[in-house]
Amino acid sequence: MSDSDGLAKREHWGSRVGFIMAAAGSAIGLGNIWRFPYLVGKDGGAAFVVIYLIITLFIGLPVMIAEFAIGRAAQKAPVLAFKALNVSPFWSLIGWMGTIAGGFLTLSFYNVVGGWTIKYIISSLTGLMEIADAGNSGDFFSSFIGQSYQVIVFQALFLAITMGVVIGGVSKGIERACKVLMPTLFVIMIILIIRSVTLPGAEAGLKFYLSPDFSKLTGETFLDALGQSFFSLSLGLGIMLTYGSYIGKEEQLPSSSAWTAGLDTVIALLAGLAIFPAVFAMGFEPGSGAGLSFITLPAVFAKMPAGMIFSFLFFLLLFFAAVTSSMSLLEVAAAFAIEKFHMTRKEAVYGVGFIILVLGIPSATSLAGGPKIYGKDFFDAAEYVCNNVLLPLGSFLASVFVGWFWLPQAIKEITNDGKLKFGWLNTWIWCVRFVAPLAIAYIFYAGLKW
Ligand code: TRP
Repeated sequence: MSDSDGLAKREHWGSRVGFIMAAAGSAIGLGNIWRFPYLVGKDGGAAFVVIYLIITLFIGLPVMIAEFAIGRAAQKAPVLAFKALNVSPFWSLIGWMGTIAGGFLTLSFYNVVGGWTIKYIISSLTGLMEIADAGNSGDFFSSFIGQSYQVIVFQALFLAITMGVVIGGVSKGIERACKVLMPTLFVIMIILIIRSVTLPGAEAGLKFYLSPDFSKLTGETFLDALGQSFFSLSLGLGIMLTYGSYIGKEEQLPSSSAWTAGLDTVIALLAGLAIFPAVFAMGFEPGSGAGLSFITLPAVFAKMPAGMIFSFLFFLLLFFAAVTSSMSLLEVAAAFAIEKFHMTRKEAVYGVGFIILVLGIPSATSLAGGPKIYGKDFFDAAEYVCNNVLLPLGSFLASVFVGWFWLPQAIKEITNDGKLKFGWLNTWIWCVRFVAPLAIAYIFYAGLKW
């Protein structure tokens, strides 16, 4: 396509490694380091981990392959992708639901927590350790989130950094940032793990984390594990579909998906390994819910020698993880604005960024009290609707679409027109046709409660 016909060629990833780093950057985020460990703590330890791994292998990974295939075939962001594939307009629902409801809503609470990480990086170096040492990390956290203007300022800063990268584009912005940030994140993680497992008394944490007690499983465990798998792999909102639309035709979808899901899972498992031994060694409880990273861990760090450094490194890690994920969410919304309204990338990023900033305000202020939606504050309600409704529903529709309405084309796409051998093809077909839709439908039916 030449420039003279007015359509710029669609930008693609610069290299295979770059693409995998970007996809892993999207997947690896607050979900892995903040959310996964606290769910493990809440849902009974190792038994949750086992369920999580099974769900990720048989549901998460197949759905990811499906999203990549749709995206690469369409070469469009989710809202216009299904039109480009010439299928019933019904399926565009996946795009609208993912981009508009899911993308904006997820970013509205994701950026709030992203902002917290910046606040905590700074506080780690400026007195958080003394406060936590005196047993006041809980008060510190509640007084911080109780001051909405602070939360909004840090959220805006986090959003501005994300926008700065996304304006740079797919390969020069997102890919380049992820290629630096993801390896750095890995190195920090290893340092934290070495510190954690060598603390005296670390064994109790290892045992909690690694030896399963299946009597602790409940219906909620399965719903949590499923929601977490989709959230962690960035599925159900068309994120991977969009990233797939920047993949070249010669690329291998199954192995790229396996790398992305594999790295994501490894980092989640490593986060647990960094956190639980230290929590137990210092005599704390792991089941403190969302406060695990922001209340319990500062107290844990405060008791360690040179805790300030480890606290700083931990929140830096959390920030890197969060910002590479929020880039993907912003990219999808921006790609939508670029394709649908023919905006330039800059206009799209500014426009979308502004909307997200405004939408984030209820999430940020709701933590300081305020109106409740049937008993949940806005932040919790947004998180609940995204994780327990929109992500499973989006993934359900994507697997039904690929498994029942688009299978021959999907197989062509995944095998690069038959040129690529994919040994697990039949297992994959089985998973997208039966395992994923049925499991999602059942878990939905059994576990959904406000
Ligand atoms: N996967 C990211 C995390 O683990 C969050 C995320 C980014 C996400 N993009 C997404 C979640 C799309 C759901 C859908 O933190």
